[in-house]
Amino acid sequence: MRLLVATRNHHKLEEIRQIFALPGLELVAADEVSGLPEDVVEDADTFEGNALKKARELCGASGMWTMADDSGLEVAALNNAPGVFSARYAGEPCSYPANNAKLLRELGGVEDRRARFRCVIALCAPDGREWTVEGRCPGRIIGETRGSNGFGYDPLFVPDGHEQTFAELDGATKNSLSHRGHALRRAAAEWRALLVAG
Ligand code: IMP
Repeated sequence: MRLLVATRNHHKLEEIRQIFALPGLELVAADEVSGLPEDVVEDADTFEGNALKKARELCGASGMWTMADDSGLEVAALNNAPGVFSARYAGEPCSYPANNAKLLRELGGVEDRRARFRCVIALCAPDGREWTVEGRCPGRIIGETRGSNGFGYDPLFVPDGHEQTFAELDGATKNSLSHRGHALRRAAAEWRALLVAG
């Protein structure tokens, strides 16, 4: 069976290919299918809403089983901001350094540094059935950027139980701890029967 993965981000696709190596399942990237909308507007107010919206729209346009994800950072002292606005926290166009600088400004003098990454993955079937799974990674925001691996808020985020930021840890260690890694492994386990039978 063929599964459309609603992302044009090749870094994410590679991670998904490693975890979703299920027998008989062919993963197809959005840019390998013609006639799909270029971008789905992520205007829902939850990660689940955005992931479902992306999966539904591309499933409708392609007629294929479709998987989509949405993720972001929630900071306890900021009432869970930036949340669904993580990509464009400091405004458009999306800039990781500007987002990190804004986060540090907002947390200036704040003692409570608790934060978590969340990732929701949605699966839509052409007959209208839908499923979601979620993965979380708790940690804290440090006072200055450290490390050059990864992307986004990685240089400011230290996962619980560690001293290094996601941008200092190697990719395999980040995947074993991350919200996306947890959500993908959960999705592969929970949806295996659906996807292999299809
Ligand atoms: P999206 O799921 O690609 O829409 O991600 C939204 C935003 O959340 C990204 O642009 C990043 O700012 C942030 N984000 C999501 N996952 C991560 C991560 O693993 N590390 C750092 N930032 C992340």
